[in-house]
Amino acid sequence: MERLQKVIAYAGVASRRKAEQLILEGKVKVNGKVVKELGTKVSNSDSIEVNGIKLEKEDKVYFLLYKPRGIISAVTDDKGRKTVTDIFKKHVHQRIFPVGRLDYDTSGLLLLTNDGEFAYQMTHPKFKIDKTYIARVKGIPTIEGLKKLQRGIKLEDGKTAPAKVSMTSFDEKAQKAICEITIHEGRNRQVRRMFEAIGTPVVKLKRERFAFLDLAGLMPGEYRELTKHEVKLLRVLSDTGKIE
Ligand code: URA
Repeated sequence: MERLQKVIAYAGVASRRKAEQLILEGKVKVNGKVVKELGTKVSNSDSIEVNGIKLEKEDKVYFLLYKPRGIISAVTDDKGRKTVTDIFKKHVHQRIFPVGRLDYDTSGLLLLTNDGEFAYQMTHPKFKIDKTYIARVKGIPTIEGLKKLQRGIKLEDGKTAPAKVSMTSFDEKAQKAICEITIHEGRNRQVRRMFEAIGTPVVKLKRERFAFLDLAGLMPGEYRELTKHEVKLLRVLSDTGKIE
């Protein structure tokens, strides 16, 4: 069950706010009856009409973007900055949104879709979908520091779940290191806060992998559609925790 205004927005008829307005104005019918309640929930089998026209269900689409640095992971930005959906505007007419978020300064693999259920399955920590990041950090993490990240470390919003962490290289003279970290949570600026907590702040961050997906063949700013098989495998992974 989804909120009526969200379903209307996903169908590409109007923005979420405009959809709310249409509902309040009595222009929306569910199964033939006018509905003016914003909280109304509808299911896939309900028939929805907007301004007397039946809502067609929008095809679900799934994209993998190599997000460049310096761009917002959102659909719109109130400061008018470029967002990840701007990259798709010319060629994709569906109302897609990013699956989770990468910081403005973080580059790497970002999925975008118009499938809310799929996005939920990819981002809620209970589905344990791994995301792998390469972090260039200032200073050289100690073994104890890396172990803390591995076990889970206390941040201001609680302890993080166990992570896979390794240091792939370090430069003693320049006092910098490159680490790889895999987490399945997606808290705000989580990787940056984790390395900050062990005294080696992140200076550059890239998401290299999302489950079994990587950035092969893409340059920053480029994207491709996920194959049907990849979408299916991601669903199986979130349902069962593994793929054969
Ligand atoms: N963790 C961060 O700190 N930033 C991101 O963009 C993603 C994960």
